[in-house]
Amino acid sequence: MTDKSKLAFRELERSITAALETYSNVHRGTGHHSMVSTGLYEQSRELVLDYLDLPPEKYTVIFCSPRRTGKFTGNLKPGSFRVITGEETGLPLGVQAVAVQKKHLPEGTPFESGGGTARLMASGWVIWDKAPDKFEAGTPAIINVIAFAKALTLLKSSGPGLFHVEDKEKCAVADILYRDETDGLTGRELLEKLRATRIGIETQVPTTAGWTRYVNLDNSASTPTFTPVWDAVRRTWRLAPETHRELIAEVGKICAGMLHAPPDTYEVIFTSNTTEAINLAAENLKRDPDTGTETVIVSSLLEHSSNDLPWRQVTSHPLIRLNIDKEGFTDLIQLEKVLAEYNRDGIHGNQRIKLVAISGASNVLGVCNDPEAIGRIVHRYGARLLVDAAQLVAHRKVDISGFDIDYLAFSAHKVYAPFGSGALIVRKALLHFNPQEMEAIRKSGEENPGGITALGKIFHLMGRIGMEVIIREEQALHHHALSELSKIKGFKGYGIKDPDAPSFSCKAGVIVFDFKNMFSNKLAQELAIRGGIGVRFGCHCAHILIKKLVGVGPFFERFQWLIATLFTSVRFPGLTRVSLGMENSREDVDTLVRVLKQIGNGKQPDKIRSDTQGQKDELTREKVVQSMNEYVEEAGRRVFTDMRQVTC
Ligand SMILES: Cc1ncc(COP(=O)(O)O)c(C=O)c1O
Repeated sequence: MTDKSKLAFRELERSITAALETYSNVHRGTGHHSMVSTGLYEQSRELVLDYLDLPPEKYTVIFCSPRRTGKFTGNLKPGSFRVITGEETGLPLGVQAVAVQKKHLPEGTPFESGGGTARLMASGWVIWDKAPDKFEAGTPAIINVIAFAKALTLLKSSGPGLFHVEDKEKCAVADILYRDETDGLTGRELLEKLRATRIGIETQVPTTAGWTRYVNLDNSASTPTFTPVWDAVRRTWRLAPETHRELIAEVGKICAGMLHAPPDTYEVIFTSNTTEAINLAAENLKRDPDTGTETVIVSSLLEHSSNDLPWRQVTSHPLIRLNIDKEGFTDLIQLEKVLAEYNRDGIHGNQRIKLVAISGASNVLGVCNDPEAIGRIVHRYGARLLVDAAQLVAHRKVDISGFDIDYLAFSAHKVYAPFGSGALIVRKALLHFNPQEMEAIRKSGEENPGGITALGKIFHLMGRIGMEVIIREEQALHHHALSELSKIKGFKGYGIKDPDAPSFSCKAGVIVFDFKNMFSNKLAQELAIRGGIGVRFGCHCAHILIKKLVGVGPFFERFQWLIATLFTSVRFPGLTRVSLGMENSREDVDTLVRVLKQIGNGKQPDKIRSDTQGQKDELTREKVVQSMNEYVEEAGRRVFTDMRQVTC
């Protein structure tokens, strides 16, 4: 590798380390880090246009997996777009950029749907979001997109070929996946060690109480990562394609082992996220052999839009959405009843329930369905089971074959591996794609060996910690959080409210609440300004469920449609969500409790102690908002400024 390439790799890694230090989900969070990641992600679009010398007034950029690029550009007018592939950068990121003329963007239903593509939805209608979000279904590969844009800036300033290195490194996959500074540790000891390596653990943000440690309580949206995982990714980026192939094969085995999906029965297909995995399953279902019956799909009121919208494209029959009880558990009696009606008794003519698509754990209420019981019922009536495991795999044991699951979808960015990978694990016998199509599908996911390696690495580490240890730790923290929050005047929780109830063991660490009737976006903003706390507000891409929880009836729903159509930036009632992960500590929860009490008391924020330089200053609210904006800009500069001269 030439010195020029070595320097370019080093600069890329420096920049991505900076992005990881302030990483959070884009577009839909409120805290400092969601603002930073959103800023970096949107700046990445501008950098692509800059690289291509295209005017931003006329063009926008859609980031796609290779498979999605094909689907998207297939609908575009020839000559109205340009594509930059990963090959052009020389980096295996699994990201492609489609720069498309705004006036030629397709109207109507997007080519893939799910989280982020809809601004508002109800069981019978959808108001699609505007481009570019409408065409980027699910959580984008945020870090990989930033790396892609960074690579383009380096290529632009230094000429092509920087990352096209002939003599890429080779090394044993075991070194990457199974060896690091945590060697020899297991159980709780390993968990603690890993927590201490969380990237960004030291990051301080401006608040009305001075510069404080950032507290990420938005793990259901996306999780931060740990040094051993990032190290595995950066090493992978420098490796030769043969080693990538070995890594991908090994991670396939790790996933199969962790989730109990025997390779003779199940195929692990890597995707860019859960949403792409579910869209793929939907496409597969459309190809079910014609048996003279019409397809009906069952889901529940609990579902995330990524496990609702794609199914609407499969059949003209409306989805049957199972009810949920007061705690949020799906009604299994109703499930059995509808299956019997459709599939055993033929009450609905030739309509048959082909698939039951259910979330393993809710991203709003945290409730974990019982996939084993569901699997038993579903198969008794000849249907198939898809489990949306986006919120499950980081928090509970999953036994695909034991639970008789046919399709399981999840994202790595919700399991501390935010490098743009996900997977669909599917019973091989159910796949209806032809060999060429299968090859293209596999190839698309596998163009991101770094993201796949990250997933394998974290699964291996979690396996060594032990899921029972992770569950015990998370539940203890969750118990503490729910107990303390419930004592605060004005706090109104939803779903399982009593941490000592037997059902609490079936609730993952997600707490959704209303506080003193404040708008959830205002409350979330207040938590950030006063405590440096990142949470999520609004409808959580689960509009149907949120409307049920906050009591939006059919009349108001129609009214919402009218208002949302007329006024595109209006906000509707929503809830605030706190979501815990194995990265969180008791101190994080105590900060939340303290700040929420302070907001409830109407007390002015603490007067300032000191800033990071140790200087005393009085941080008024306005100053903090200004500092937050400066913080976001500075974080952006750290990532995208070319520091090669300095580091050299
Ligand atoms: C339950 C559930 N399903 C699906 C998704 C979609 O995941 P992704 O955005 O990674 O595609 C999410 C994301 O929040 C989720 O919480």
